[in-house]
Amino acid sequence: MAKVASSMSVSLDGYVTGPNDSREHPLGEGGERLHRWLWGEDHTPADAEVIGEMVGAAGAVVMGRRSYDFCEGDGGWGDGGPVGDTPCFVVTHEPPATASPVFTFVTDGVASAIAKAKAVAGDDGWVGLHGATTAQQALAAGLVDEVQVHLIPVLMGAGVRLFDDIGGKPISLERTRVVETPQATHIRFRVVRD
Ligand SMILES: NC(=O)c1ccc[n+]([C@@H]2O[C@H](COP(=O)([O-])OP(=O)(O)OC[C@H]3O[C@@H](n4cnc5c(N)ncnc54)[C@H](OP(=O)(O)O)[C@@H]3O)[C@@H](O)[C@H]2O)c1
Repeated sequence: MAKVASSMSVSLDGYVTGPNDSREHPLGEGGERLHRWLWGEDHTPADAEVIGEMVGAAGAVVMGRRSYDFCEGDGGWGDGGPVGDTPCFVVTHEPPATASPVFTFVTDGVASAIAKAKAVAGDDGWVGLHGATTAQQALAAGLVDEVQVHLIPVLMGAGVRLFDDIGGKPISLERTRVVETPQATHIRFRVVRD
């Protein structure tokens, strides 16, 4: 059965965006700093290896509607999704009218989106979670196997918080790997289920 990983770039003070995220500024104002390791001039071979590993493992993606709205199409992912033509399941209360070969809109919640994503990801594939609210709901529901943080040496000060509401009780993690580069500390944690 496919596993589920939340994987996002986060500032030292816990933000996945700067302030005022929008279609014009998908990572908020000043938030592009968070993804410099992905495509900036300081991107290193070790960062590239982390990206290659994530892309190679991706069998499906689950994301929230805000992540979709700010990044789909021109100026964002272009014709595909965050991982090319890998299927993406978008949780939303109201699907857009447009049809897409990559995106499926899911209106009955995060657990349903994850189930649909797992069904297409294949036994060895991973389902990647994008969007803070969406990842938090999955964590609170006990549906996440791994938390990957790409910790960026910046204090963002404001924006969307990664772990704002995880259901009001502690979630134990076991750190399984750390890759350090000048732009990011890439940390993988296994979610420990009691
Ligand atoms: N730093 C990184 O690596 C990284 C990665 C991914 C995304 N981001 C950024 O993070 C921001 C988005 O995160 P976010 O937490 O604000 O939003 P999000 O999780 O992407 O989307 C939240 C939206 O999804 C819909 N939704 C969520 N749960 C739902 C449910 N159970 N049932 C139905 N619909 C549901 C709702 O939209 P509707 O009510 O409108 O349908 C909700 O407002 C964006 O700025 C994005 O660019 C950063």
